[in-house]
Amino acid sequence: MANEVKSIGILTSGGDAPGMNACIRAVVRSALNRGLRVYGIRRGYAGLLKGDLFEMDAKSVSNIIHQGGTMLYSARCPEFLEKETQAKAAKMCEVFGLDALVTIGGDGTFRGAQALSEFGVKVIGVPATIDLDVGCTDYTIGFDTAINIVMDCIARLRDTSASLERCSVVEVMGHHCGAIAIWSGITTGADAVMIPELEETQSLDYAARVIMENRARGKNHNIIIVAEGCYNCDELAKQLHELTGIDCRCAILGHLQRGGRPSALDVKHASMMGENAVNTLLDGKQNRVIAFKNGQYVDFDLAEALQMMRKPCTDVWDANLHLSSYH
Ligand code: F6P
Repeated sequence: MANEVKSIGILTSGGDAPGMNACIRAVVRSALNRGLRVYGIRRGYAGLLKGDLFEMDAKSVSNIIHQGGTMLYSARCPEFLEKETQAKAAKMCEVFGLDALVTIGGDGTFRGAQALSEFGVKVIGVPATIDLDVGCTDYTIGFDTAINIVMDCIARLRDTSASLERCSVVEVMGHHCGAIAIWSGITTGADAVMIPELEETQSLDYAARVIMENRARGKNHNIIIVAEGCYNCDELAKQLHELTGIDCRCAILGHLQRGGRPSALDVKHASMMGENAVNTLLDGKQNRVIAFKNGQYVDFDLAEALQMMRKPCTDVWDANLHLSSYH
C-alpha cells in the first residue's frame, strides 16, 4: 500500500450513535479540502467485503449535520473475526485504491480496524457509541444525546409515577457499562441506580431499602434506573413490588436512546474528531484512535487504545447517593 494518502474510505459500524453523520460530514469535507478522494462504504465491514462503495463529494454530506443515525448505514459483522474475512476486506481496499480507512464506532469497530491494520491497511478510529465505554477517551460521540433522551423520558415517567405514587423502574442501555445509567441517575435525580460495575448496587435489597426508606419519609414515588444486563427489568419491578408493596412498573427505553437529532455537544465533538482523523492521517500517522482526553483532542496507538480500561464513574454514583436521599 502506498505511503502517501490520496484516497480514503469511511465507514460506520456497530450500534449507530447520534452525531455519526456530523462526523462523516467532517471527515469528507476535511479530506476533500486537503485534496483527497473519499469513498463512503455502506454497512460497515460487511459493505467493505461486498465492495459496496461510492465516491463522495462535498454535496454528498449536505443536510446531514443535524440528523441522527448514519447515512452510511451500519451493521454488525460477526464473520469479521475470521482471518480469511479480514484478508478479503484488506484486498478490497487494494482493489478500490483506498490508502486508508476512517472507521467510526466503538471498541468492536476498532478491533476490526486493528485486524485490517495487520494486513497493511492504514486505519484511524473515531469513537462513537452512546455507551461511553471506550477506554482511551473521556468522550464518545452520541453519549450526550442519549443522556438527554433519558432525561426527557424520565421527566415524563416522573409525572405519571408521582401522580399514582408508583415506582418507575427504568432500564437504560450501555452494554456492559453503567455510564448511561449513572449519568442519567444524577441528571434526573433518580432514587437508586443499579450498574454492572458496582456489585452492591445490584442487590434487590438495596433497591427495596431505598423504596422503603423513602416511604418512611413520606415519599411514595421513586425512580430506579437499572443498566441493561444487571437485571430483567420486568422481573425486577415485580420483585420490588412483592418486597415493598409499592406498585412498581418497568419501562425499557431501548433504541429510543439511540435516535434523534444530536445535541450541540455531540455535533461539536463529532466535527472536531472527524477533522482530527484526517489531520492525523495527513501528518503521516496510521493505526491511531482519536480521543478527547483531559479537555483536548489527542490520538493514541490503536493497539494500546484497545488495552486501556475505562474507570467506572463511582464518584458520580456516590454523588447521586448523597443527592437523592433527603432527611
Ligand atoms: O453499543 C450501543 C448499544 O446500543 C448498546 O447500548 C446495546 O447493548 C446494543 O448497542 C444494542 O445493540 P442492537 O441495536 O444490535 O440490539
